[in-house]
Amino acid sequence: MKIKLIILLIGFSLFGYSQKKTTKKAVTIKPKTEFVAELLSKMTLEEKIGQLNLPTSGDITTGAASSSNVAKNIEEGKVGGLFNIKSVQKIKEVQKIAVEKSRLKIPLLFGMDVIHGYETTFPIPLGLSCTWDMKLIERSAQIAAKEASADGINWTFSPMVDISRDPRWGRVSEGSGEDPFLGSQIAKAMVNGYQQNDLSKNNTILSCVKHFALYGAPDAGRDYNTVDMSRIKMYNDYFPPYKAAIDAGVGSVMASFNEIDGIPATGNKWLMTDVLRKQWGFNGFVVTDFTGIPEMIEHGMGDLQTVSALALNAGIEMDMVGEGFLTTLKKSLDEGKVSIEQIDNAARLILNAKYDLGLFHDPYKYCDEKRAKTEVFTKSHRAEARAIAAQSLVLLKNNNQLLPLKKSGTVAVIGPLADAKENMAGTWSVATNMDKSISLLAGIKEVAGDATKVLYAKGSNLDYDAAFEEKATMFGKTLHRDNRTSAELLTEALKIASQSDVIVAALGESAEMSGESSSRTNLEIPQAQKDLLQALLKTGKPVVLVLFTGRPLVLVQENETVPAILNTWFAGSEAGSAIADVLFGNENPSGKLTATFPRSVGQVPIYYNQKNTGRPLANKEGKFEKFRSNYIDERNEPLFPFGFGLSYTTFKYSNLKISSDKMNFNEKLMVSVDVTNTGNYDGKEVVQLYIRDLVGSVTRPLKELKGFQKIVLKKGEKQTVIFEISVEELKFYNSDLQFIAEPGTFQAIVGTDSSTDNKVDFLLIK
Ligand code: BGC
Repeated sequence: MKIKLIILLIGFSLFGYSQKKTTKKAVTIKPKTEFVAELLSKMTLEEKIGQLNLPTSGDITTGAASSSNVAKNIEEGKVGGLFNIKSVQKIKEVQKIAVEKSRLKIPLLFGMDVIHGYETTFPIPLGLSCTWDMKLIERSAQIAAKEASADGINWTFSPMVDISRDPRWGRVSEGSGEDPFLGSQIAKAMVNGYQQNDLSKNNTILSCVKHFALYGAPDAGRDYNTVDMSRIKMYNDYFPPYKAAIDAGVGSVMASFNEIDGIPATGNKWLMTDVLRKQWGFNGFVVTDFTGIPEMIEHGMGDLQTVSALALNAGIEMDMVGEGFLTTLKKSLDEGKVSIEQIDNAARLILNAKYDLGLFHDPYKYCDEKRAKTEVFTKSHRAEARAIAAQSLVLLKNNNQLLPLKKSGTVAVIGPLADAKENMAGTWSVATNMDKSISLLAGIKEVAGDATKVLYAKGSNLDYDAAFEEKATMFGKTLHRDNRTSAELLTEALKIASQSDVIVAALGESAEMSGESSSRTNLEIPQAQKDLLQALLKTGKPVVLVLFTGRPLVLVQENETVPAILNTWFAGSEAGSAIADVLFGNENPSGKLTATFPRSVGQVPIYYNQKNTGRPLANKEGKFEKFRSNYIDERNEPLFPFGFGLSYTTFKYSNLKISSDKMNFNEKLMVSVDVTNTGNYDGKEVVQLYIRDLVGSVTRPLKELKGFQKIVLKKGEKQTVIFEISVEELKFYNSDLQFIAEPGTFQAIVGTDSSTDNKVDFLLIK
């Protein structure tokens, strides 16, 4: 911002704020570059290094700020920001220390993991991505920013855009699935939602794209594990969403825990400087992940002083919790291991962000207690969250149109996740008030109406193994393990089932079975619940499986035996109402998977945009062929492909056409298809365009998503959907890492999911 900002504020002067003065006066603030340079020139080395330090609120959340170490460090100018402190009053109290007691009165950043909503909680990011609706996704981030900023927060550690093809990794729940094209659109929508291209407002917040880079590809799906990947794969498949966030103007970037090419991301100069700054032109600041700097000691990169210097030299500006910068940079400067220019530059970038947020204009800009009371967890935000949640649900199976259910008769709601409101918000919902979430049982009671009798039984615990259940229900998201025996729980459930017309089985993962440090080697529903489900099916009553999960699961047995499966992820604070809206037909499901569901954990990593081999299977039925690329004990295909999701209605695709069978590098082609709603309900369909480049200088994927449109069709209605193809959609990174398109034959493939074969060919000519 090079404009001079004239603002109204209470008793502000360039380096001194006084809260005592009451007269409002207009103050001219110098333009950013000048302002920050002047401020830097007044700072001691310790104060500059202090700006690079990001402690967690830990010991000051009780309100006893002035007696804690963090408070003392703030007073001494040794803190640049603080994170995960909740409530406007506490934040104001801490900001006051910085602004009234520190020598230069530099305000603090207040960060938080506002990942999928604040108190009003939206579906986990993996669920949100299944809406394929960029406006809704942006809106969810905008509401999150509005609520967080009303409660004192000015910086969120979101979006998490790590592509992952490995559902063993628990953090697939926090990302947008496996596809770089869709992931890039979502990254952009999220950044726009938080920042609204205008950080000077008081209801937008600084966004932080994470975890740069490749965090979603750890060996064996084990969190924090080694990543080893070719550069061509990084550039084509894993980098695009980070780059999209940078292009959308994200203000900060978080380094990932993992190594890249043998060097941890936190100390990786090629990544942080060459790629991020030089190639992509990023000019915000980079923060480490939680203790990312000292963790490099365990990685085997040296002692704290060495790894701290390594991080600064690589291009890291802020040290989250590690205190490596705080305690060693001065020594490294004295010993010539880092330069003062590097320290100045890092401090400058952080001060720039504070300036952009308007904190130098008004350090209490986000501390409006009235806003905190009126703009958080509001009726209207919750209504929007409910509508968004309904769109994130994915109908995986619906034999004989068992769904939607009638609003009459008796429904037995059975399962350990049926009455579990603490589990609804899902992982990383720091600000949510778990007590206020709507459970499935509560949602069904509300939506089914008075003509429906609703019965409930728990049926089983999360798992037979109590020790496993403890690991899977941390952070207060307890499932209240039932002390009755499995037989007693089952008997009660079967009794309830026998009195019902239909059974809704609420089964799957608990919220903390996915997310950080929740990797799994077994991707099935826990055995106790599988057994419960089979027992319920034996009653002969129709069973609807309402699945809760933070990752793709292996559902072969369920798919073979259960007539209807609705995958609900963790749909946020309004989950129960949204799920009930779909179960009873107030909403027609339209979510489409953004991550492949495998048939077996042995197929992982599994993803739709795979390449061919020199020995692909020749038959389409998936029959085993010796000396071909397949398994002797499993098919190659997934259980549910990327892009898959049913509706209560049906859609017919016809008349696929292309405007010309060739184009040159400056031309565009139009691909069109007619989509007709052939069923009995109005509905939404995500029409997907994939492209295959048949011959290249490097091997190319069998198909890649390059366009999608979510359309609304009334019963019987037909629409012609048109996609434009330009040379941009045909580009890729070649073996010299140049982003180019190569002349030759391409296929445009259009359909309802990634398994479609409906295609037209065209030529790209010079
Ligand atoms: C996570 C980050 C998160 C940070 C701060 C880390 O453990 O990896 O995603 O933003 O903690 O809470």
